[in-house]
Amino acid sequence: MNNILLTGFMGTGKSSVGRALADALGLDFVDTDELIIERHGSIEAIFHTLGEQAFRSMERTIAVELSDRRNVVVSTGGRFMLDDHNIDLLVSEYDVIALVADATTIAKRVLADGVAMRPLLADAADPVARIDELLAERRHGYERFTAVDTVGRSIAEIVADLATRYVR
Ligand code: S3P
Repeated sequence: MNNILLTGFMGTGKSSVGRALADALGLDFVDTDELIIERHGSIEAIFHTLGEQAFRSMERTIAVELSDRRNVVVSTGGRFMLDDHNIDLLVSEYDVIALVADATTIAKRVLADGVAMRPLLADAADPVARIDELLAERRHGYERFTAVDTVGRSIAEIVADLATRYVR
């Protein structure tokens, strides 16, 4: 299959890995969060002015568009592939890989990035507790996809590992 889609929790490296993997394989690259920002403005502003449901509906529109794409690597927002509508549209069109990390690693990465881009954490009184809670809720959803561990591995190592699976 020449369509690869990366899912996984915030801070698992989906965007960085996806962009580099697309380069390595000579495929197009789409980042669903970036597409939403281009079309509708910042994720913080969308969550605060229109609400999370509006953001999820923007994600669903993008899933419809992605179902027709070929030769593309897609990096998704952390909840994109936990939505039944998006799953139904995309599982048969994409090889779906879940990038995985434990809560401590995720907390270090997202807190280092800054949580501003991630309203679900920025609005939490205790972002680390919120990460734990969301991970517990979502773990089963991610487990349906092929897991690739990211802990202790550089972006380049993860990309090299994935690229060998897709050498054509
Ligand atoms: C979200 C993750 C974010 C972004 C939005 C919601 C989530 O993307 O889509 O803030 O619900 O997990 P990243 O996973 O790229 O941080």
